[in-house]
Amino acid sequence: MCGIVGILGSKPVATDLVDALRRLEYRGYDSAGVATVENGHLERRRAEGKLRNLETRLLSEPLSGHTGIGHTRWATHGRPTERNAHPHMSAKVSVVHNGIIENFRELKTELTAKGHTFETDTDTEAVVHLVTDEMERGAGPIDAVKAALGKLKGAFALGIIFAGEDDLMIAARQGSPLAIGHGSGEMYLGSDAIALAPFTDAITYLEEGDWAVMRRAGVQVFDRAGQPVTRPLIKSVASSLLVDKGNHRHFMAKEIHEQPDVISHTLSNYLDMANARVNFPDLGIDLTKISRVTISACGTAYYAGLVGKYWIERYARVPVEIDVASEMRYREAPLPADGLAVFVSQSGETADTLATLRYAKANGQRIASIVNVRTSTIARESHAVLPTLAGPEIGVASTKAFTCQLAALACLAIAIGRARGAISQELEQELVTALVEVPRLISTVLRNEEQYIELAHGLSKARDVLYLGRGSSYPLALEGALKLKEISYIHAEGYAAGELKHGPIALIDEAVPVIVVAPEDDLLEKTVSNVQEVAARGGQIILISNANPETIGCALAAHIPTPKAHPLTNPLIYAIPVQLLAYHTAVFMGTDVDQPRNLAKSVTVE
Ligand code: F6R
Repeated sequence: MCGIVGILGSKPVATDLVDALRRLEYRGYDSAGVATVENGHLERRRAEGKLRNLETRLLSEPLSGHTGIGHTRWATHGRPTERNAHPHMSAKVSVVHNGIIENFRELKTELTAKGHTFETDTDTEAVVHLVTDEMERGAGPIDAVKAALGKLKGAFALGIIFAGEDDLMIAARQGSPLAIGHGSGEMYLGSDAIALAPFTDAITYLEEGDWAVMRRAGVQVFDRAGQPVTRPLIKSVASSLLVDKGNHRHFMAKEIHEQPDVISHTLSNYLDMANARVNFPDLGIDLTKISRVTISACGTAYYAGLVGKYWIERYARVPVEIDVASEMRYREAPLPADGLAVFVSQSGETADTLATLRYAKANGQRIASIVNVRTSTIARESHAVLPTLAGPEIGVASTKAFTCQLAALACLAIAIGRARGAISQELEQELVTALVEVPRLISTVLRNEEQYIELAHGLSKARDVLYLGRGSSYPLALEGALKLKEISYIHAEGYAAGELKHGPIALIDEAVPVIVVAPEDDLLEKTVSNVQEVAARGGQIILISNANPETIGCALAAHIPTPKAHPLTNPLIYAIPVQLLAYHTAVFMGTDVDQPRNLAKSVTVE
């Protein structure tokens, strides 16, 4: 979280820094700031809240330096005030930072004892004083940073500029991604290539432990041991044109509506559509010998993984263990020989997912990652990468990445089942044909958006909302509740429908809408019994189902009709109504749909 940019430019850079920060706002938006070298000394402008506040500040107090760094923050240490906003600086050095300096308390004590005065509550300020301290003791900027890096513990990406140095910027990466952009007579630094897309597509990614000395004429990269290293220069495919709302009011709306297309792209990567077969990449493991599949991820990506568990167990007949990455990484779970571990992540940078991946790798698992950002750390550290072709997802609430993850997981389940003989050729054809139908079926759901706007008015008045589902619809209930709470701030919980009577039913009364995800499948009858239990207690039932509502046998507050689909593909179809309900409720309530409070898109802290 937190976005970093830096420019060694040929003209004043403040406007371009803010422009690049706008493309990084998905990483955090609590506060923002820029610092430049102004006639040899360092100056900065910072503002609490969204980037537009910083823009306003720069209009009244412009900066004209040609060398500068910028930052958009997701607060970890210290409240999101202007005082705690980056860049942090002394008279000699200015720093932007993404990540957490874990030993900052020790460093602060040490540096305070040496006479340094800390002005903020941030961990980042320790870096400023550490580098300043080295410089005050006679080190040049490069040696000072090198010495400081040796003392830092934790995960960080840093961009550093210096007073009196108009042609120098130092970048360092340990645990948080950093991209260096090569321009003509200009150099750029960014948390990702999208931030730099309007300036350059020539990108060098720093690797773990790397630090780089950047000048307008070029960059020299060093590894952790201080040895010069060559990192490849690649042509980035990130296009600034992709980061645009089109005709939609929010990125989230645009991304919901893109789903037929991006699911279709993702499926075509794993299916031979013409012959209704899976065409899955070699994972480098004999699928017939897999003893267990272990899946781990966070948030929405975890719910995609949970659907994957139902599919892999049902269709491929392989046991699946799944846990959220923040738990699995500390459980010291024994992992089997011949195990396949699957990590699901849109950003490919989620700290807990990455740590769990490393644990699984160290424990002999074959690692496959389902990621949306192919250049991400999770992708690079995996044995096999299964890309989702969702394109950049800017809305903080994940929508199209989720359904593309489901698409990739469904193909994985079929591929494993087919290889092991659990799926016959006929069944493979049936399942692949069902998947090919998904984009069309989703388009039919998207054509009926009016209904959601009406339902949103009612939901916006609720204090609590429950979501119920059974089987592979249970993760959809969890995802529906997460979507609603993260963008509308209404308290919502998802439950396995059968669990209702074991406690949550106590919450039901006339004021609690209960959203039931219930496709007409072999579990519908059981779910209907749970719906009746809710109705008997006055709960307001909103049924999302392709079943005839009259067969439910009780009064419904509303019915959201869905198209009939194959049981395999229902989770992909039912994702859309739960997304639309959350979206329209949030729009009706006037929340910041694309950048909900307290959240960030890429969670690179633990
Ligand atoms: C919710 C959401 C998050 C992410 C989670 C994992 O809408 O987007 O729950 O799914 O933070 O992020 P990635 O997929 O980037 O690992």
